Amino acid sequence: MEKGEITMKVSVIFKAMLLSVVAAAVFSSVVFAGPNYFAVDREFYPYYPSLIKWDKSQAKFTEPKVCAGCHPKQYEEWNGSVHALAFHDPVYQGELNLAFKAVGHEVTRKCEGCHSPAGMVTGEIKGPGLKGLSPMALAGVSCDICHSISGVTHWQTPTREPGNGSFILSPGKDTPDGPKLVKRGPLTPSDGCGMGFHECVESPLHQQADLCASCHQVFHYDKHFPIEATYSEWKGSPYAQRGIHCQDCHMVEIETFIRSADTFRKPDRKEYRHYFNGANYLLYYLAQAAAKKAGDENLAANLKQKYDMAVKRLQSAAEIEIHPVYSKGRLIEVKVRVKNMRAGHNLPTSLTNVREMWIEVTARDTSGKAVLTSGGLDKNNRLQPETRVFNSDGMGDNFHFAIDPWIVTGFSRHDTIPPKGYKDAYYGINSGKAKGKITVEARLRYRQADQKVAEKLLSSVTADINLEAIYGIKEVPELPVLDMAVKKASLSLNK
Ligand code: HEC
Ligand code: HEC
Ligand code: HEC
Ligand code: HEC
Ligand code: HEC
Repeated sequence: MEKGEITMKVSVIFKAMLLSVVAAAVFSSVVFAGPNYFAVDREFYPYYPSLIKWDKSQAKFTEPKVCAGCHPKQYEEWNGSVHALAFHDPVYQGELNLAFKAVGHEVTRKCEGCHSPAGMVTGEIKGPGLKGLSPMALAGVSCDICHSISGVTHWQTPTREPGNGSFILSPGKDTPDGPKLVKRGPLTPSDGCGMGFHECVESPLHQQADLCASCHQVFHYDKHFPIEATYSEWKGSPYAQRGIHCQDCHMVEIETFIRSADTFRKPDRKEYRHYFNGANYLLYYLAQAAAKKAGDENLAANLKQKYDMAVKRLQSAAEIEIHPVYSKGRLIEVKVRVKNMRAGHNLPTSLTNVREMWIEVTARDTSGKAVLTSGGLDKNNRLQPETRVFNSDGMGDNFHFAIDPWIVTGFSRHDTIPPKGYKDAYYGINSGKAKGKITVEARLRYRQADQKVAEKLLSSVTADINLEAIYGIKEVPELPVLDMAVKKASLSLNK
């Protein structure tokens, strides 16, 4: 054997060993990754982690202003809605920018899939900010999103549940005469439906919560933990049992929503509106300031109306009861019961780890001496630790407190009130030296977020979103707190 041959053989053996080490490393990383419960089919979901599918043809997406030409009423109702604001929303844009910096566009595509689906699938939106985008991308959850939804893939998602945009967009189709737009809605098409601009297709999906479910269930992009679960809360509620869907409360006037909630009677066909009104009065407030600054008085008035509706909705959602608790004939505690009367899902819902709904209670004896106080804000406008708050605390993989949706993979606390259900809070009374009667006042209070959290998100927007120029705000004002329900009671000290 020649010397050179030996070195060659050794090097071949060495290479083979090296390969097997590499192979073992690859193999072991597969083994140690654990069982793949949430398998992802990336061919089926090309925009993963967004689960949108786009049934691509030459038919383009159409911006809302064009639909407005023939559907002015629906446009007026939708314009200024949270859906219309879903991409502009500075709170969203701030959080999107933080997400983009932390985990990159491969992940934040998921956000865009719900906040501006057309801008995501066409590839127009490449990151946070508004600069240079077409009206279609800026329009957020617009007419041509919902009315191009031709189906859902809810049972093929990694969790086998709806979420993260699990719908199919089909704005139209190719025909021998060129592309044709197709719009889907609840009605049996009349003659001349669409006036040659679009064809009409009857879609039972449009009268069902499943249309909304794809976006109103948010899962962690990788761990598939349900961060927002409005649809599944609804699905397990008496409303779902009795055929009252999202549309029956959110696509009608306030009086009609109250009737749907109280009587389980579905609205008449002519009662549906495109308000999509929820709880976010803060966003309407900001958008109203922007409309005024831009000199658009009509839009400002429209937004004021939607602001009032959100306030009314929140004030119709819950009721409070006050009950005395006696021991050995002496008043020792006050029980405050909060009832979810009219929310078709838990109260609060969706971004439960950001929203704040809490009980403030005070009690005084006849001489005016306080025998109980809880739930006031401190001098920094923050909730005090012992306050009973209905919301949740998110946590990351390390079990530490977290807010950001790309980190939250669990809840360390989740305390919300189920539909038509209630929760009780007990408060000890310092009644030793109290005299006469005890007057108790309890309030259920709500705001969109903690002051510091709102300040952080709003100050994280990209440079093209100048809050002072657009909204006229130099610094984030004290976040408005809303009283959803107030109750007073007079209790005897002795039974
Ligand atoms: C599955 C759809 C979906 C996905 C994905 C999604 N969102 Fe949202 N987002 C929503 C819905 C629905 C709401 C409204 C919930 C509410 O008002 O309570 C919302 C609300 C928000 C809000 C609160 C806005 C406000 O004005 O209070 C922020 C901030 C936000 N999203 C940021 C993000 C970011 C950042 C991502 C990506 C990491 C993301 N969202 C991904 C559907 C989604
Ligand atoms: C978030 C989804 C969504 C968006 C955005 C949306 N729609 Fe609708 N639209 C619906 C649903 C759901 C119905 C069915 C409600 C019902 O049962 O009548 C509907 C019904 C309709 C109808 C049938 C008649 C009626 O009013 O009930 C028309 C026309 C229509 N929408 C046009 C529009 C236009 C124009 C826009 C934009 C300005 C728009 N929609 C935005 C979901 C949406
Ligand atoms: C040239 C006029 C015209 C334009 C532009 C137009 N539509 Fe229509 N559309 C009609 C007419 C007419 C009907 C019949 C019913 C009616 O009068 O509301 C109709 C019906 C509908 C329906 C009800 C279908 C059903 O079966 O329930 C939906 C949904 C709809 N349009 C959505 C849209 C959307 C979304 C746009 C913008 C992308 C749009 N339309 C643009 C004329 C138009
Ligand atoms: C393409 C995704 C998408 C679809 C489909 C969708 N939504 Fe939304 N919806 C959103 C996003 C995103 C927001 C929040 C935007 C924000 O706060 O910036 C939102 C906000 C809302 C709000 C306002 C919440 C608040 O805090 O005020 C209501 C109410 C609502 N949606 C109801 C519905 C209903 C009812 C349907 C079905 C008919 C529906 N949505 C379908 C994405 C969607
Ligand atoms: C019986 C009436 C009713 C039904 C059905 C209903 N909602 Fe609501 N929704 C309410 C009320 C009342 C509120 C305001 C209180 C609250 O925030 O929960 C609300 C609030 C919301 C909010 C804002 C939450 C926040 O705090 O920012 C969203 C988003 C929402 N609903 C979406 C939906 C979706 C999606 C469905 C269907 C799966 C649905 N709702 C079904 C009554 C209803």
